[in-house]
Amino acid sequence: MAQDDLLEYLRKKQTFVSGEELSSQLHISRQAAWKHIQQLRSLGYDIDSVPHLGYQLTACPDRLYPAEVSAGLHTRLIGRRLHYFDQVASTMDTAMRLAQDNAPDGTVVIAETQTSGRGRFGRPWISPKYKCICCSVIVRPDTAITGVAPITLMAAVSVCAAVHRVTGLEAQIKWPNDILLGLKKVGGILTEMKGSSDRVSYVIIGIGVNVNDAPAEGAVSLARHAGRRVSRVALLQELLRQLEQYYAKFRKHELDGILDSWRQYSATLGQRVRIDMHGSRIYGIAVDIDADGGLLVRQDSGLMDKVMAGDVVHCR
Ligand code: BTN
Repeated sequence: MAQDDLLEYLRKKQTFVSGEELSSQLHISRQAAWKHIQQLRSLGYDIDSVPHLGYQLTACPDRLYPAEVSAGLHTRLIGRRLHYFDQVASTMDTAMRLAQDNAPDGTVVIAETQTSGRGRFGRPWISPKYKCICCSVIVRPDTAITGVAPITLMAAVSVCAAVHRVTGLEAQIKWPNDILLGLKKVGGILTEMKGSSDRVSYVIIGIGVNVNDAPAEGAVSLARHAGRRVSRVALLQELLRQLEQYYAKFRKHELDGILDSWRQYSATLGQRVRIDMHGSRIYGIAVDIDADGGLLVRQDSGLMDKVMAGDVVHCR
């Protein structure tokens, strides 16, 4: 698309570019170039124009536009196809529809906000507009339904790794996949899948991160901990790169690489925990995670339990 090409040209040049150069390099009329510049400005790009010098891109908006996210992304699979929305009900539903329509492995759905974002157990997930990351990634692993758990683990690990690379902050994972900063929740992962017989057709990995605002009580934002505004574009790019690396491990059956990273980022292992499972409750020490995503808990009685679903409270 000529507008994207023009944006990339200005981005690469980092200096003034004449209307004539734009027109000859991009094979469009000077009038068309001017029109694209106006459109880019209306999307939030700062573009200076000086007579006899031309146009210079001086600032990009912190919007998760595909052109921003793709610039310098360099992934081969995750995020090669980006679907961007200013607002959707839930990126999970949008991704599910795209997956049904054969969207390829690695397709990403991004929204600036959601009107019916959801979390685990159908809880609401609030996504303040232009302040958070909410995205869903479609993956099509060649695996049995029983082998899908490491995908959720790798998503949580990827969030922590991306947060660390972009902000220096040490986010942690509370089992099963809450992302914490300090003791508060900064993000969450929701995975949903479709399969036929015992094989997976696709998995939708939903990721929500409170970047520059924390919507709910008891939650926190990256910006609050970092003491500065955090670039959502930089964070999303790094998240997609991390997912790419960990998904490659998953596809090569290198599950230990995923589990070891999970252990490293875990806030739960080694802790005394209370686990609330629909109607029942157990206490013990969280000792390990296994490839099913199950949490191994040594109960006070000495009995080892493997917990597959529930809410963890870290006791002190
Ligand atoms: C949780 O902690 O309970 C999981 C939260 C997952 C939220 C993300 S935001 C993007 C995607 N769309 C949704 O509706 N939910 C997930």
